[in-house]
Amino acid sequence: MASSKAAELDRFRITGGCRLQGEVSVTGAKNSVLKLMAASLLAVGKTTIRNVPDIADVDIMADLLTRLGCTVKREGSVVTIDVPTTPMHRADYDLVRKMRASINVLGPLVARVGKAEVALPGGDAIGSRGLDFHIKGLESLGAKARVEHGYVIAEAPKGLTGTSIELDFPSVGATENLMTAAVLAKGTTVIDNAAREPDLVDLGEFLIGMGAKIEGLGTPTITIYGVKELNPTDHTTITDRIIAGTWAFAAAMTQGDITIHGGRADHMEVMLEKLTSAGAIITSIHNGIRVQMNQRPKAIDVATLPYPGFATDLLPFIIGMNAIAEGHSIVTENVFESRFMFVNELMRLGAQITVDGHHASIDGIPQLSGAPVEATDIRAGAGLVLAALVSDGETTVDGAFHIDRGYPKFAEQLVSLGAKVSRE
Ligand code: UD1
Repeated sequence: MASSKAAELDRFRITGGCRLQGEVSVTGAKNSVLKLMAASLLAVGKTTIRNVPDIADVDIMADLLTRLGCTVKREGSVVTIDVPTTPMHRADYDLVRKMRASINVLGPLVARVGKAEVALPGGDAIGSRGLDFHIKGLESLGAKARVEHGYVIAEAPKGLTGTSIELDFPSVGATENLMTAAVLAKGTTVIDNAAREPDLVDLGEFLIGMGAKIEGLGTPTITIYGVKELNPTDHTTITDRIIAGTWAFAAAMTQGDITIHGGRADHMEVMLEKLTSAGAIITSIHNGIRVQMNQRPKAIDVATLPYPGFATDLLPFIIGMNAIAEGHSIVTENVFESRFMFVNELMRLGAQITVDGHHASIDGIPQLSGAPVEATDIRAGAGLVLAALVSDGETTVDGAFHIDRGYPKFAEQLVSLGAKVSRE
């Protein structure tokens, strides 16, 4: 398993200078499937989730659900989760700390069992990632919630009651937890300033498949009419827009030509506009997109924002591309304060970047220069691998396990596109 000691010591070795060319297929979205798995707790019996990617985080969520009393089976890209009548209510630190998405069992457990104890999550080193919106929202639904000895404890022995909740920020995790709690509440819940991410819409559709009554998915106001109980469902996960975006940047940075099967242009509009401004040619094909780049990219200014804005998860790629682009650019991060940590690693490859608060000022140079670097989170890791592809000589990226958390067979796919990458 990718979380074993051996995998933790794994690194990628990349020889730069190749133009990537060919075809890739994008698997199911990590940030959707983990939430669907957690939400399966809402119905007794066997839920089936299809198009599940082969990534380490899915194994961690499966372990967590097993610990809660579920029977989880995986056959290829199909996962079945058999949920008992009364699941356990405690999600322990040893599993939760490995993955932020573990917090998504909070809402379903309070709604189903009337009690949840979930260790404060770990996850990526990209910022503080509070839980105050989750806790305040559950309280307004009638739960008693507190943080004690490193656990979020929420109790609602008599069930939850629908209410109006306005989020201070359209947090993806908070919207998910509150929506998965409110589906079984008495009465109607309205979540204002809700997140609009495609992953959240996918979760909402999964819940509707279970019998939930939800309106306004994909808009800032979600209305949930509580129902007494939900039934298991069979659902196919949407494709991963961040992985599709990663391949699009790989094509643009290496002046390559990649056809991305399963990449949904409607989930990546702002990003594709930015790539077009940088000089890329984007063509829609049946069930995917093709990204070609025939010139050195032009530097572009970007500010990350909640969906439909430019995704914060794509930040390492836009910074990597601007580092080798023609001209100067400013990239602003508005979602996670520590996402620029990876810039120090990129500077080890020779990138000319100054960070001031949540702005990065980048002077593009024609080529980076290979060096040993370290991945600090999933996207930073993948971003460093792409930067290594446009570096002179050899680069090693330590911390391959971070990349395994989000990218199935990343090295193999890169090799199939013509990159010189090995894992050691
Ligand atoms: C999810 C995704 C992550 C993506 C992010 C934004 C998963 C596992 N992760 O993260 O890949 O980058 O959405 O699209 O799905 N905040 C608070 N209080 C809260 C909740 C959030 O202050 O109670 C803040 C966070 O610190 C952060 C911002 O809100 O600054 C956004 O967080 P959120 O949208 O909740 O991100 P995640 O769900 O953690």
